[in-house]
Amino acid sequence: MKIALIGNGAIAKLVTAFCAARKDRFQIVGAIGLPENDKVSVGAHPLMYDYQQLLALKPEFVVECASHSAVESYAVPTLDLGLDLLVVSIGSLADEARWTKVSAAAARSTAKLLLPPGALPGIDALSAAKLAGLTRVSLRSAKPPKAWKGTPAEDEHNLDAIATATVIYSGNAREAALMFPKNANIAATTALAGIGFEKTEIELVADPAVTQNVHRIQAEGVFGSMVTEIKANPSPDNPKTSHMAALSIMRILENRASAIVLG
Ligand SMILES: NC(=O)c1ccc[n+]([C@@H]2O[C@H](COP(=O)([O-])OP(=O)(O)OC[C@H]3O[C@@H](n4cnc5c(N)ncnc54)[C@H](O)[C@@H]3O)[C@@H](O)[C@H]2O)c1
Repeated sequence: MKIALIGNGAIAKLVTAFCAARKDRFQIVGAIGLPENDKVSVGAHPLMYDYQQLLALKPEFVVECASHSAVESYAVPTLDLGLDLLVVSIGSLADEARWTKVSAAAARSTAKLLLPPGALPGIDALSAAKLAGLTRVSLRSAKPPKAWKGTPAEDEHNLDAIATATVIYSGNAREAALMFPKNANIAATTALAGIGFEKTEIELVADPAVTQNVHRIQAEGVFGSMVTEIKANPSPDNPKTSHMAALSIMRILENRASAIVLG
């Protein structure tokens, strides 16, 4: 399968290494990056700055692992060309206007828009449970206090002095994604898999006792109830990105190339 990447950072590097180890199945034909950030390709494939040049390499599948602005620029044109697109910057879809545009492009396209679970556990179960009806979905995300520096949490809390687990935000997924853009991916993924942005309850916690990002989803509905939790390690090249985000893309690639698909 010929794959094009949008992005040349931590996730692109891990996906590239995965594809290189499975040359019989996957070939990265090229990637686009930003001239100011990306000087050298993360793999053997060419790095470019022009999307038309990338498309000229005739990819069969496009993986966005870049940013909200990349989703804004490339999602609709890619789907309109009939190319399957995997978007990992799912937080960008918390913007209602963008979601309307991108979902309409997916609906009119012969191609699919694929949204991976990323670092969240149990998104498959949550989206299955949704089919029978959900009554409540919440996501609690705990990180070390210093991870909340540079966010609105600093206005109300002295993060350096937090000694016990402290809730720094409680509200719905729409507001959480807008106020805490670095957490928008998990808020948006939970909302899209479950009961939507307005009804999904989000709690963000600064916890000096944790060293990883700990995400817990709780859901109730006709199916029963569930609690899933992950203690996610950072990716080797970007402490802000969970390693699971890249693994979740690899799983989707693997499923597309496999005769047997689990999940
Ligand atoms: N869904 C999830 O659970 C999840 C988890 C982690 C990260 N992410 C998202 O994945 C994306 C990539 O993460 P990363 O850790 O690889 O980031 P990174 O900062 O290491 O790399 C991003 C790369 O994309 C490039 N880029 C940014 N905007 C671009 C544009 N408009 N056009 C072309 N290239 C562009 C950057 O120059 C860089 O090469 C981020 O948006 C991040 O929020 C999602």
